[in-house]
Amino acid sequence: MKSPTEMLEAEHRVIARVVGITPVLVERLEEGGVIEQDILKSIVEFMRIYADKCHHGKEEDLLYPALSDKGVPMQGCPIGALVADHVSGRSLVRHLSDFAEAYARNEPEAYIGLISSLRGIAALYPGHIWKEDYLLFPMTNKVMNPEELDTLYRQFEQVDLSIGHDTLERLTLLAGDLERQFG
Ligand SMILES: [Fe+2]
Ligand SMILES: [Fe+2]
Repeated sequence: MKSPTEMLEAEHRVIARVVGITPVLVERLEEGGVIEQDILKSIVEFMRIYADKCHHGKEEDLLYPALSDKGVPMQGCPIGALVADHVSGRSLVRHLSDFAEAYARNEPEAYIGLISSLRGIAALYPGHIWKEDYLLFPMTNKVMNPEELDTLYRQFEQVDLSIGHDTLERLTLLAGDLERQFG
C-alpha cells in the first residue's frame, strides 16, 4: 500500500534541501557577497508552490482535518502548533520575496531584511519537519486505519495532479540544483 505519510516525508526531504542552503546564503551575504536575483526568486517560487501550496496544502486541507475526525484536537498540541508554523513560514517567505525585490533595487534596508528572512526560514523548518516526521506521522499511522490512509493517499495524488506533475518535477530538480550549488 502506498503511504500518505511516506509521501509527506519524501516531500520533507526535498524541502530540507532548499531550507538547508539558507544558512549558506546568509553567510555569503554577511561576507559581503552577492546573491543573484534568480536564486532568490527560485527559492521564493519553490517555497510558495512546492512547500506551501502542495505540501502544506495536503497537511492543512486533508491530513489535519482527517486527524481531527479521529478525535485529535485542532487547537494546541500538536496540530495548532504545526498550523502556526505554516503561518510563520508563509510570512517569512512573503518577507523574503519583498526583501529580494528591494535587494535587486539596491535599497539599503533590503540586506538586513534578506538576512533575517533567510535566518527565520533556517530556524523554523528543521524543527517543524522533525515534529511531523517523528510525532505527527507515527501518530497518523496509529489513529487512521488502512482504508482511511489509502483514501488520504489518493486525495494527495489529486493535489499533485491539480498543481501539475511537470511543475512538481521541475521544482524537485530545482531543489537538487540549489543544494549542489550552495549546499
Ligand atoms: Fe507541516
Ligand atoms: Fe510537513
